[in-house]
Amino acid sequence: MTLIEARDLTKKFGAFRAIDGITLSVSEGEFVSIVGPNGAGKTTFVNLLTGLLRPTSGSVLFKGENIGGIGPVALAERGMARAFQLVQIFPQMTVAETLATAVVSRRKISWRMLASVSEDADVQRRVGEVAIAFGLEHRLQTPSRLLAQGEKKLLDVASAFALEPEVILLDEPTSGVSTAEKHGLMKTLVSAAKSAGIKAVILIEHDMDLVAAYSDRIVALSEGRVLADLPPGPFFADAMLIETVIGKRRAH
Ligand SMILES: Nc1ncnc2c1ncn2[C@@H]1O[C@H](COP(=O)(O)OP(=O)(O)OP(=O)(O)O)[C@@H](O)[C@H]1O
Ligand SMILES: [Mg+2]
Repeated sequence: MTLIEARDLTKKFGAFRAIDGITLSVSEGEFVSIVGPNGAGKTTFVNLLTGLLRPTSGSVLFKGENIGGIGPVALAERGMARAFQLVQIFPQMTVAETLATAVVSRRKISWRMLASVSEDADVQRRVGEVAIAFGLEHRLQTPSRLLAQGEKKLLDVASAFALEPEVILLDEPTSGVSTAEKHGLMKTLVSAAKSAGIKAVILIEHDMDLVAAYSDRIVALSEGRVLADLPPGPFFADAMLIETVIGKRRAH
C-alpha cells in the first residue's frame, strides 16, 4: 500500500529550483534512505513531504490526501511525525517530562491541563514504554541538558515516536554523534520503530555504512532531482553513482 506519494514536485526559492520535478512513492514496510551531496535538496524534499513547505508546483499525498503545507501539528494528527520538529527539547525539562509532553500532545489534551495529566497513569505508562524502547528508562528523572549527545538524539526521536506515527522521517539523526555511537543509535531507532509498528521510515543520512546497513531502498538526489532510486545491492555496486553522490568511494 502506498503511504506517501510525491507527484512532479518542484520547489523554487526565488529563481532557484531546489527541488526540480520529483515523482516517487513510499509504500508500507519500506525503509528509504535519502542521500546526496550537500545542497542536493534532501532537507527541502523532506520539508515538502512533511508539509512544512508548500510546493511551488506538484503535490504530496499522504494516504491519498494532499498535505502540501499543512504544518507539523496537523501532520502528526494524520499519522506522520518528524524528529526534531514537533517537540522541542527544553534543557530544563526531564526526560520523563519531555516524553509526557509528546504523549499528551498526541492525545489532544489541552496544554493547560498538562500539569495534571502528566501524572496520569496512562500517560506515565506510555512514557515508560517509550523510554524502555529507547534505552532511556534509567534517565527519566534527568534534566535533558545533562544527557550525552547520543542520548539527546534518542530523546528527540523518542519524542517523535511518542506521537504514535505511522511514518517517521529522520533528518540525520546521528549527526553530532561519534562514529562509535552511531550504529548503536541506529539499532535502537530501528528496533523501536519495529516494536512501535511504524509502517515506513524515511531517513536522510550522510553515513553510507548506516545507509547500507538499514535501507531497503536508496534515493539519491542531486541538484533537486532523483539521480537513482535503487535497493542497496545495485546502489553500492555502482561506483560512478557513489562517486557522484558522495564525492568519495565507500571504504569497502
Ligand atoms: N529557505 C531557503 N531559501 C533559499 N534557498 C534555500 C532555502 N532552503 C534551501 N535552500 C537552498 O536549496 C538547496 C537545497 O538545500 P537543502 O537544505 O535541501 O540541501 P540538503 O541536501 O539538505 O543539504 P545538506 O546535506 O547540507 O543538509 C541549497 O542550495 C540551499 O542553499
Ligand atoms: Mg539537509
